[in-house]
Amino acid sequence: RPAQLTDRFGRHINYLRLSVTDRCNLRCFYCVANKPIQRHKRHEVLSLEELERLANAFIQLGITKIRVTGGEPLVRRGVIGLIENLGRSSQLNELTLTTNGTQLCKYAQQLREAGVDRLNVSLDTLSRKRFKSRTGGNLDQALQGLEKARQCNYKRIKINALINASDNDDEVVQLIDFATANGFDITFIEEMPLTGSLHDPSEDQRFVSSQDIRSLLPISYRLIPTQISTGGPARYYQLADSNTASLIGFISARTEHFCHNCNRVRLTATGKMVPCLGQAHEVDLRHTIRNHPNDQSTLFEIIRSGIYRKPWGHNFNQPGYVAETQLRPMSTTGG
Ligand code: GTP
Ligand code: 5AD
Ligand code: SF4
Repeated sequence: RPAQLTDRFGRHINYLRLSVTDRCNLRCFYCVANKPIQRHKRHEVLSLEELERLANAFIQLGITKIRVTGGEPLVRRGVIGLIENLGRSSQLNELTLTTNGTQLCKYAQQLREAGVDRLNVSLDTLSRKRFKSRTGGNLDQALQGLEKARQCNYKRIKINALINASDNDDEVVQLIDFATANGFDITFIEEMPLTGSLHDPSEDQRFVSSQDIRSLLPISYRLIPTQISTGGPARYYQLADSNTASLIGFISARTEHFCHNCNRVRLTATGKMVPCLGQAHEVDLRHTIRNHPNDQSTLFEIIRSGIYRKPWGHNFNQPGYVAETQLRPMSTTGG
């Protein structure tokens, strides 16, 4: 029987999100911390060999899907080599990558050849000006990256769009059209309060729920629910009256709690295992692999027991919620 990781609620954990760096060439306002935080120190960051060793330990324990994340994973020097090595693992069913797209012109082909099956690319807007103000980056670079990726024969490419009121909420239809015209899927993501408090007035004012997005759509964009899953929390719909194969997904962490189905665990670039994105609970694996490099069984036991104690889920919606994860914005955990 193949190995399996299970938590105390009986959830099977088969999906590892592997963050290879907390650095990013963009500064999306919802992803970086809203106050100065300590960036990872150089000696704390795992080498590519150490990351690979840990990833292999997870694979031996029953992980069958790895998503490489950041920060921006493609700014880590040598990351392609790591991905190539992971791509050779016969125990993985799926190797995927989440990126902001700006480096894809250079890397899309190599990544595909290294064995990356699917890409998720963040793209909140098709306006140059808004892209600049939301991310600090250059829209054309991201679009050119996406176009390059489109030509590389990925199994699926998905766009992630985070919609905010009084900013890009008038672009939902254009983003869907852009995705379907290119054969991409698209997922709309509810903003999660990872570094502040839920009732931070500025966050509240800009929050747009998945239901808000669905009701913004004109009648000609009628959505039909599907049972399709990509192994993550997105719920997918198809467009009625359309011959596109593109899926329209919603990740509704705040309005449709999905923790009961959680199948994933995260590893930061400093070797901290994070069993739940919404909770502070972390397990340090760096210490174990650096101080006891030959002790595989201790490492396995620490991973197993850390996953067994995985928290039930986030409590973003509790009245008075203040993020316990103040010091761990998305850029540190990779989403
Ligand atoms: P696939 O299903 O493999 O395509 O992945 P995904 O859509 O889950 O991954 P992606 O990296 O594109 O993440 C999209 C959004 O989902 C990000 O905002 C993530 O933080 C969020 N997300 C992914 N997993 C979880 C989770 O376990 N909990 C919460 N609350 N959000 C998650
Ligand atoms: N809430 C929800 N999603 C977020 N992302 C970054 N920060 C947040 C947040 N606070 C998303 C990005 C990217 C994905 C990896 O995580 O949009 O697509
Ligand atoms: Fe899983 Fe935690 Fe995300 Fe809930 S908040 S889905 S338990 S990682």
